[in-house]
Amino acid sequence: MNGERYVKESRTFKASHVLPPDTNNHNTLFGGKLMAHIDDVAALSAMKHARGPVVTASTDSVDFLQPVRVDYEVSLEAFVTWTHNTSMEVFVKIVGEDLHTGERTVCATSFLTFVAIGSDGRPTQVPKVIPETEEERFLHQGAPERAEARKARRIRNKQLADLLGTRRPWEASGATPGTERHLNRTNPQSKD
Ligand SMILES: CC(C)(COP(=O)(O)OP(=O)(O)OC[C@H]1O[C@@H](n2cnc3c(N)ncnc32)[C@H](O)[C@@H]1OP(=O)(O)O)[C@@H](O)C(=O)NCCC(=O)NCCS
Repeated sequence: MNGERYVKESRTFKASHVLPPDTNNHNTLFGGKLMAHIDDVAALSAMKHARGPVVTASTDSVDFLQPVRVDYEVSLEAFVTWTHNTSMEVFVKIVGEDLHTGERTVCATSFLTFVAIGSDGRPTQVPKVIPETEEERFLHQGAPERAEARKARRIRNKQLADLLGTRRPWEASGATPGTERHLNRTNPQSKD
């Protein structure tokens, strides 16, 4: 799909009360629970921009700056900061609020990349995104550099996956069809 959309059209909010089932022995929100919230709100934001199905291609990082404590509100704000052809960068800001004092802290930030999927199941073009506010322009300007770093990381990770293969540590050499090529490269003694 072509065309253009403003960043504000993809802005998505999600808030919830941090309760004991979602907290660890430090009485703070589980990192994994927070990551699930992040992926959820970011996917909604990407879908609002693409107006179609999307998949998460990558998460750059989740920087846990401050703990989110039990009985706090955790709120997440996501928006599309940049687009390329079929991919969209989404920024998520996570704020913890002490419900008794009203004090708020930025507890984490994250950048994710989503890819729009067409009816043929393949990546499909997304509209360009137009930043308007100072914050939106700042994040938009920094995006090409982050995208380059992502591209380099993807190549390195593909090489690593190729090298490691899929064989389990306890499986005999050659037991898993299709992995011999990779393992022979690291195990010159192999008779496969
Ligand atoms: C993401 C995916 C659709 C990309 O498909 P592909 O056949 O590799 O497609 P391409 O190499 O043509 O890449 C398509 C776009 O994705 C981007 N992309 C692919 N992998 C990426 C990654 N790891 N990080 C960031 N961007 C990525 C490419 O840069 C490209 O962007 P552009 O079109 O804007 O230039 C595919 O790898 C996939 O389905 N991955 C699994 C997704 C998944 O299961 N997610 C979790 C559940 S939703």
